[in-house]
Formats: sequence, C-alpha cells, structure tokens
Amino acid sequence: MKKNMIIMGPPGAGKGTQAKKIIASYHIPHISTGDMFREAIAEGTPLGLLAKQYINAGNLVPDDVTIGLVKERLSKDDCANGYLLDGFPRTIPQAEALEKLTKEIGREISIVISIDTPKEELIRRITGRLVCKKCGAPFHKENRRPLKEGVCDLCGGELVQRPDDNKEALEVRLAHYEQETKPLLDFYHKLGLLHTLDGMKGVDALMIDIDKLLEA
Ligand code: AP5
Repeated sequence: MKKNMIIMGPPGAGKGTQAKKIIASYHIPHISTGDMFREAIAEGTPLGLLAKQYINAGNLVPDDVTIGLVKERLSKDDCANGYLLDGFPRTIPQAEALEKLTKEIGREISIVISIDTPKEELIRRITGRLVCKKCGAPFHKENRRPLKEGVCDLCGGELVQRPDDNKEALEVRLAHYEQETKPLLDFYHKLGLLHTLDGMKGVDALMIDIDKLLEA
C-alpha cells in the first residue's frame, strides 16, 4: 500500500474532506499546514500572530516558516508508518525542501493525489462552507448541511465561517494556486507520482477512486 501521501488541489477542491476519510480508513497522521496555522492563531502563539496576517488576506505564509513547521512534524515517530500531507507543498521551494527531507529521513513520498475542481464550483463551495470550531470538519450551507443547524455532526462543536472564506481573499488564494502551486503538478508528474481525480464526483465516489489508487 502507498502510505506516504500528498493531497493537492485549489482552495475548496475537497482536500480536507477527503483527508478526513483517508485518515479514518488508513490510520495515518493528517498533516494539514492550514489546520496547524489555524490552531496557532487560536492559541495566539507567535507563529499564529505571524500567520494570521497572511492567511486572512489569502496570501501564502513565507516558505521558511512553513517548511520549518513541516520538517518538525514529519520527523515525529507517528509518521514512521505513513502520513498524509494536505496543503503542503504549495510552492516549488517547499516541494524541493520536502524531497530533500523525506529522503534524509527515509520517508519518501509514494503518491500525490490532485483533486481537480472547476473554478465556479470552488467559489460556490468556499462561500458556502462552514467548519467546526472544535474538530475542523467541513460542512456546506446547501449541499452538506449538518443534521442540526450550526452544530457539528461529528463532535457537537460550533460551526463557523473561516475568516479567509470571502470573495476577496478567495480571489487572492486562487491566484496563488495558479501561479505558485499549479507548477507542482508538473514537478510530481515528472517524478511519476501524480494522479489527478475529478473533484466534481461525490465525496464517497472520490474515496472509492482514492482507495483504488492507494491499494494498486
Ligand atoms: P488551507 O487550510 O490548506 O486552505 P485551502 O488550500 O485554501 O483549502 P481549503 O481548506 O479552503 O479547501 P479544501 O480543498 O480542504 O476543501 P474542503 O474539503 O474544506 O490553507 C489556508 C491558508 O493557510 C492558505 O491560504 C495559506 O495562507 C496558509 N497555508 C497553508 N498551507 C500553506 C503552505 N504550504 N504554504 C504557505 N501558506 C500556507 O471542501 C470545501 C467545501 O466543499 C466544504 O463545504 C465541503 O463540504 C464541500 N465539498 C468537499 N468535497 C466535496 C465534493 N466532492 N462534492 C461536493 N462538495 C464537496
């Protein structure tokens, strides 16, 4: 089984949603740089104060900060039997640093899954998204409604809108994806690791495709 994974895609493609299903099935740690930054912001740490200025405006947190964070996390014991990187790498320098690190620690990437979702759908998903304040699970105001309004089905936490989930910040996030993250598709294609899946499929149908790839 392919156990060292990256899940990629533009904002709203469904990375976090599929990541939650993957880690539940394969029992590997979910390393989401976005979640790590949001936790630091909630705790008011120096990292959180720095990241907040970038994230709320839709910009990328500087590479040196992000790479340092992932290096530390990926070197921990719980990643020895696999890991799922979500939202990292996002730039060529991040991908190069990750290649170097994973080789050094013997945890090379075995598969990169890119979720391809059209722009109009990304806008619809992001502007309607609600996330659980406690466990981070994503919901949607129209097509993935919680059983009880404002309450997470999974943990009972409060559902809120992310501060970067507005039209202005989303335009900036999409532009960063086009300019800095999309070139990574070619980077991983050349390494023979890239698989692209259709993000317009339902969450469960996508998971069937992911299972097939991981177990091939
Ligand atoms: P991050 O948290 O990684 O945000 P993102 O990449 O913008 O992605 P999202 O979390 O918005 O979307 P998603 O693809 O996970 O979609 P989701 O599953 O929630 O990063 C946030 C910020 O942190 C960045 O902008 C940057 O500032 C900073 N940052 C993070 N990593 C960084 C890095 N490496 N370098 C520098 N800065 C970094 O789904 C969205 C909605 O769609 C939900 O409502 C969901 O219910 C619905 N949905 C999901 N899948 C489906 C489906 N198949 N069908 C229908 N609806 C679906």
